[in-house]
Amino acid sequence: MGVIAATLGSAVGLGNVWRFPAEAQANGGAAFLLLYIACVIILGVPMMLVEMTLGRHGRSDVVGVFKKLEPGKPWWGVGALAILASLLITGFYMVVEGWTAEYLWNSITGALYEGTGESVAQTDAVLKARMGEYINSDFSPLIFTLVVFMINVGILIGGVQKGIERVSNILMPMFFVVLAILCCMTLSLDGAGEGLRWFLSPDFSLITWDTVVNALGQTFFSLSIGMGCIVTYASYYPDNTRLTGTAVIVAMMSLLVALMVGCVIFPSVTHFGLTDHGLAGSTLVFRTLPNVFSMMPGTTFWSILFFTLLFVAALTSTVSMVEVTVAFMQERLKVSRAKAVVLTVVPMIVLGIFSSLSFGSLSDFTIAGKTFFDLLDFIATNLLLPLGGIILCIYVGWFAPKTMLREQLTNHGRTRLLLLNAIVFIIRYVAPLLIGVIMVFTFI
Ligand code: PFF
Repeated sequence: MGVIAATLGSAVGLGNVWRFPAEAQANGGAAFLLLYIACVIILGVPMMLVEMTLGRHGRSDVVGVFKKLEPGKPWWGVGALAILASLLITGFYMVVEGWTAEYLWNSITGALYEGTGESVAQTDAVLKARMGEYINSDFSPLIFTLVVFMINVGILIGGVQKGIERVSNILMPMFFVVLAILCCMTLSLDGAGEGLRWFLSPDFSLITWDTVVNALGQTFFSLSIGMGCIVTYASYYPDNTRLTGTAVIVAMMSLLVALMVGCVIFPSVTHFGLTDHGLAGSTLVFRTLPNVFSMMPGTTFWSILFFTLLFVAALTSTVSMVEVTVAFMQERLKVSRAKAVVLTVVPMIVLGIFSSLSFGSLSDFTIAGKTFFDLLDFIATNLLLPLGGIILCIYVGWFAPKTMLREQLTNHGRTRLLLLNAIVFIIRYVAPLLIGVIMVFTFI
């Protein structure tokens, strides 16, 4: 259970609640959803198994496993890539985690909902103005981003991951329950059908290469694969953990959260008529959800509860991202844990500052049409994660010790696995080919 909880903690986070609806909105709704589901099943689960195999067999950090298994060969370079990806992802993810903390804080003080409640339109106008203060200004989002960094540092140095795991063991199931309650709420709203239809009935003419590339990126992002996070966590797994069962459960739960979030967000968007206001993808959830809460009896209670749960979900993800580099520094460079955490986090904070400001005074500063925040997301999610993923896949499928994959998947022959041959086939042929083709199109 601990293994599943920790891996689930890493996988389920802002990727499902904040990034998924924004991507679905930008990529045509149901068509994107369908591709995303296909990617999770065909590529996500096998890729998780690749990382789990490598981590548990090598019992080391993402560079260390290659130093152990392939001494003197350049395979460890994929570890370097993974560390770069974790740096870039943390550089924008912490900002959104900061927004979550900011919304939580302002729900507690009551500032978020102050002056709302006259009518649906007036409430939305107030909430939109608050979003401007909380996200699109310079000062307060920056402060919350820095606070969130410090909380992560405290957890990582204090080694209180065990405590976090225990807390999230209670809060994660609660998160599912609260999402289910919100689903019931929003699905009964007037006009919900229109949003739901958009989210669930696919229009295949909307599928372009961009949709495919983005669905693949979202799969890697939401399952924490392609940057050695699962390698690092699996290096701590006991020998009797069933890898396939764990990967399937984590992937399905992550998918379920994304689906439930979609069922909350899109019906609300149509019910509140939020489409007219030109909602920007990144801010979709932070504008929509407070509108939903403001309509429910016990607004403050639901708002505090939800943002607390989301914050913990985000925290268990960021701790796992930073751990990739911390484990590397501790094991390879032999520095103390505290020093490793500080050295890892400083460059992340620098990126975090620029990402946060890219919603404020740096919003006009763009490279290739993207703000700094969007650029980090694009490079890490659509380029580095699939690149790391494909190399890991090719290594485990073709170059690793012949028996490694089968031994890890069957716990050295102790458990029978019906689909073993199919999984090995996907890892050797299907996954590298599909990811390779999609990546070539990304570059084109
Ligand atoms: N999977 C996390 C989420 O969906 O929020 C984000 C993430 C965590 C990405 C860890 C990558 C990673 F290594």
